[in-house]
Amino acid sequence: MRIGVLGAAGQLGRDLCPILPGEVVPLSRAEIDLSQTATIAATLTALNLDILVNCAAYNFVDKAEVEPDAAFAVNVWGVRSLAQGCSAARIKFVHFSTDYVFGLDATRSTPFAEDDAPGPVSVYGLSKLTGEYVARTHAPDSIVIRTCGLYGIHGTGGKGGNFVETMLRVAGQGKPLRVVADQHCTPSYTVDVAQATVGLIRTRATGLFHVTNAGSCTWHELATEIFRLANLKPDLTPITSAQFGAPARRPPYSVLSNAKLATVGVQCPRPWSEALADYMTERQGRR
Ligand SMILES: NC(=O)c1ccc[n+]([C@@H]2O[C@H](COP(=O)([O-])OP(=O)(O)OC[C@H]3O[C@@H](n4cnc5c(N)ncnc54)[C@H](OP(=O)(O)O)[C@@H]3O)[C@@H](O)[C@H]2O)c1
Repeated sequence: MRIGVLGAAGQLGRDLCPILPGEVVPLSRAEIDLSQTATIAATLTALNLDILVNCAAYNFVDKAEVEPDAAFAVNVWGVRSLAQGCSAARIKFVHFSTDYVFGLDATRSTPFAEDDAPGPVSVYGLSKLTGEYVARTHAPDSIVIRTCGLYGIHGTGGKGGNFVETMLRVAGQGKPLRVVADQHCTPSYTVDVAQATVGLIRTRATGLFHVTNAGSCTWHELATEIFRLANLKPDLTPITSAQFGAPARRPPYSVLSNAKLATVGVQCPRPWSEALADYMTERQGRR
């Protein structure tokens, strides 16, 4: 089995490549640029893959508000070409989406299932939701995985670092931290998301799945837990999203239910706090 991974150098891609079965073909923008759709189908055919996992995306949530065409070029039209190319070459397509497809329901306080109506509140969320639709329309036997709040040892490919590292760096500089306390989601360790993804691929499942660590918290609660584990006591203040003032709106609640995973025999990832503790140990070991 030959499995191509686009976005192999991103934080999820880097944790996924080493644990996939068979022969893994790491792919970057140099081989397939999602914003250059004309050559994607021919490239996929030449690669002779059995499975393509797309970890690549336009991930600049705030910048997408002012350059929607760039977000849609990668997250929609690039994904459509991947899905079409995979169907034509009989390649199983595995694609990642986001909890940011939710947010419109401001009263929500229970985890979203895969069949709950989405409603994004940002250009990025809209582009990723449309990407889900084009993936499933053009590659009906695809797997689309919504995940949330990723952090991994390798940091994001596009933006660099991750939330945990940012918190530790700013605290280390002795600066005060103001962190939003009105957005509820599930921080998810890329190692755990990668493992569940391999599980899904092995089951030969198709369709939409939620894959995050278990439980939920706010970004402020996550920061509090990071500092507890790191034995730090920085000047940390909870603030509202309005006070933070990011250009793009975020969902006030975007916790995803993992229950569907168990129905296809894939183990649900562990609680987020256990995963975070492992991450903290792992990063310490690399210093
Ligand atoms: N990060 C999160 O918190 C989060 C949350 C929910 C869902 N997700 C989704 O999870 C998936 C993986 O995210 P991640 O955090 O691992 O992302 P990441 O670390 O930012 O990696 C994204 C990868 O996409 C590549 N890429 C960007 N534009 C491209 C293009 N035009 N053509 C080809 N490759 C391109 C980047 O390559 P370059 O280095 O060359 O730019 C990078 O390797 C994405 O679908 C994302 O939307 C992420």
